[in-house]
Amino acid sequence: MEAFVEQRNFGQAAFTKPGLALYDALVLGMTCRYIWRCPNARVLEAYRRHLSGNHLEVGVGTGYFLDHVNFPVAQPRLALLDLNANCLERTAKRVARYAPTVHQANVLEPIALGAPRFDSIGLNYVLHCVPGSFPDKGKVLLHLKQLLNPGGVMFGATVLASGVPHTWASSTALRYFNAHQTLNNAEDDYAQFADTLRQHLQDVTIDVVGCVALFSGRA
Ligand SMILES: C[S@@+](CC[C@H](N)C(=O)[O-])C[C@H]1O[C@@H](n2cnc3c(N)ncnc32)[C@H](O)[C@@H]1O
Repeated sequence: MEAFVEQRNFGQAAFTKPGLALYDALVLGMTCRYIWRCPNARVLEAYRRHLSGNHLEVGVGTGYFLDHVNFPVAQPRLALLDLNANCLERTAKRVARYAPTVHQANVLEPIALGAPRFDSIGLNYVLHCVPGSFPDKGKVLLHLKQLLNPGGVMFGATVLASGVPHTWASSTALRYFNAHQTLNNAEDDYAQFADTLRQHLQDVTIDVVGCVALFSGRA
């Protein structure tokens, strides 16, 4: 761990060790599939399309998607970045076969890794956790794009509150999770999100699946 970062709630405090043990089944298996209506297969498809052999994964959670996708090269360079030490520890163990480097950092602040840049950055289900709304959350993209090689791709997914189709179940869940600050996306709107992406990245693509926006863009 290269730098100690004070563990304040920047959208990561909910990720305790017991919580992470249930994350794949409850969050990815149930909530994402049935409440947000975006099956993991759709996210994996995006990883297959964009993942490079020189990859930085940001907001690693349990490392589920990294563990379930094949890298385009046998020995990728893989770096993991998260504010939460539990997530870093669990994911680093899970993908130990790639000998990842581990970086504890807050995406809401400028990030200096002191390492070469990357060809791809994964930012999956992170933007809906961090406090604020668009365009302010664009600072996350601003900080991370400094870590991308020219032409490199940033991709990920985020649950939006408006401008995407919601059901009674997804609206109720969104209100509940925001009230408990597990999510911070009550103000996240599709049009503002899309504008913010285009402000920071080029060749932006956005696919809406359920109430999730799957996005990509280049530095
Ligand atoms: C909902 S999880 C997503 C995990 C994984 N990417 C996935 O798709 O399953 C959000 C992740 O972002 C991290 N995170 C939240 N706020 C952060 C911040 N301000 N800086 C760095 N990481 C943060 C959390 O610790 C957690 O690992």
